[in-house]
This record gives sequence, C-alpha cells and structure tokens, in this order.
Amino acid sequence: MRKIAVMNQKGGVGKTTTTINLAHAMAMAGSRVLCIDLDPQAHLGMSFGPQHGRMPGIDEVLIDDADIRDYIVEVRERLDIVPAGPRLAEFETTNAGGARRGWLLAQALKPVRRRYDMVLVDCPPSAGMLGMNALFACTEVIVPVSGDFLALQGLSRMVDIIDAIDEALKRRTKRWFVVTRFHERRRLANEVRETVMKHFSGQVLPTPVRESVALAESPGFGKTIFEYQGKGRGAEDYRALAQDFICGRTC
Ligand SMILES: Nc1ncnc2c1ncn2[C@@H]1O[C@H](COP(=O)(O)OP(=O)(O)OP(=O)(O)O)[C@@H](O)[C@H]1O
Ligand SMILES: [Mg+2]
Repeated sequence: MRKIAVMNQKGGVGKTTTTINLAHAMAMAGSRVLCIDLDPQAHLGMSFGPQHGRMPGIDEVLIDDADIRDYIVEVRERLDIVPAGPRLAEFETTNAGGARRGWLLAQALKPVRRRYDMVLVDCPPSAGMLGMNALFACTEVIVPVSGDFLALQGLSRMVDIIDAIDEALKRRTKRWFVVTRFHERRRLANEVRETVMKHFSGQVLPTPVRESVALAESPGFGKTIFEYQGKGRGAEDYRALAQDFICGRTC
C-alpha cells in the first residue's frame, strides 16, 4: 500500500480538491483507494456529502485508540474514506499516545495495508501533531502549490521539516509538487510554476491544475469533478495529473 500525505501548511492551495479528485481518478483507473480526512475542518468528508462532516472517524482512532476499520465509509466503487470526526481538533491539545504520539496514524494504518493499493491523507493547513502523524505514517508527499503571490512562502520550511524527519528515520520521502489553481494567461502564475520547477527540479508533476469554477462548485453537490463535469477542464486536468502520478512522470 502506497502511503501519501497531501500537505502544505498554507491554506486554500487545493489540498482537499487534489485529494478527492486524484483519489477518484485512481479508483476509476482500478486502484483500491482510502482517503483519510486529517483536517478538523472536515472538508474532505463534507465534499462527499454533509453527513460525513459530522460522523466520528480518525478522531476516535487517534484520541481513543479505536480500530480504524470501524470508521471506514465506502463512498464510491473502490474508494473509501475515514472522516475527520468532531473531536479531531482536540488531538492537538491532548496527550493521547504519550511518547508514541507522532506514530499513532502509522500504527492505525497497519490493519488495512492489504486492503488498499494506496492511502491519501488530506492534511490540515498547519504544522502541528496531525501533520507530524501524516509525515511519520507516509512515505510520499504530494505538495499542492497554488500559482499565486506568496505561494512559495513557507514551502522551504516545510521541505526542511520533511528533510529533518527523513534524516532521523534514515529514509527519503518521495515528493511530488503539483501546481494548482493555475491561471495559464497570467504572467505571475507562469513565473510561480517556473520557480517551482527550478527549485524542485525532477519532483514536479507536469500537469498544472487550472483554475476552474466547476472544481470549486462540485463539492457543494457532493460530487467529484468527474461526476459534476466529466468533460470540463477540471476533470481533464485531474485525469492527466493521475496519469502523471501513476507513470511517475515529473519535470
Ligand atoms: N483548480 C481550482 N479551480 C478553482 N477553484 C479551486 C481549485 N482548486 C481549489 N479550488 C477552491 O479553492 C478553495 C480551496 O481549495 P481546497 O479546499 O482544496 O484547499 P485546501 O488547501 O485543502 O484548503 P485548507 O488549507 O483550508 O484545507 C476551495 O473553495 C476549492 O473549491
Ligand atoms: Mg483542505
């Protein structure tokens, strides 16, 4: 099972949108996919229907050591989620897990490792214990970078944290950068894309995800982009991005 954290401490860059639509693209291509909503905002769950924004989920697993298998919800063919749960924000302020606090998600995933081909973890826009759990549990990170002003701010700090964890654990986390919310006609967006490609050469998925209204609208209808507007450019971009990812194409 591939374990992939979708992470960027900056808010609103397209982490949740990328998790949902990449996950659905992968599931439609035949992979068995699990998404974990590790953000107390519960946007990933809600995007599959409002009821999933209120259900208990990974909060019970991290705080009370519950079995993750009891909180898995099937949302599409070959695509399951574990909702965030209403108590997830508490996790940052409690001492659940003691010294093993950073390893709780890694531990929790063990019983499902044969059930899925990949797990995608949608992270919150912060650098707390939830993010640490995602990094300890995962061996790959997808970093969405929005093509706007300040997009690169904070990115090097996050990469430093990943490097430090890798060094301590004697491993190398695979990194995939994705340019999101891309305005192809804006000079600034193109500059941001070029800067990302220069700084993270060989780690950038070549397909940028363009800004599209349908991508912003689809979660409100409980639909992924493939269900909401399967022939639009949002679907086209996420389908191409999934192909990049499956083939390991980078630039
Ligand atoms: N390519 C896109 N085109 C248009 N709107 C987009 C696109 N990607 C994301 N959005 C919209 O931008 C907003 C932020 O996206 P999203 O929730 O995926 O970001 P996020 O990084 O998960 O945010 P947070 O840090 O709050 O978790 C949402 O309203 C979403 O619908
Ligand atoms: Mg999000």
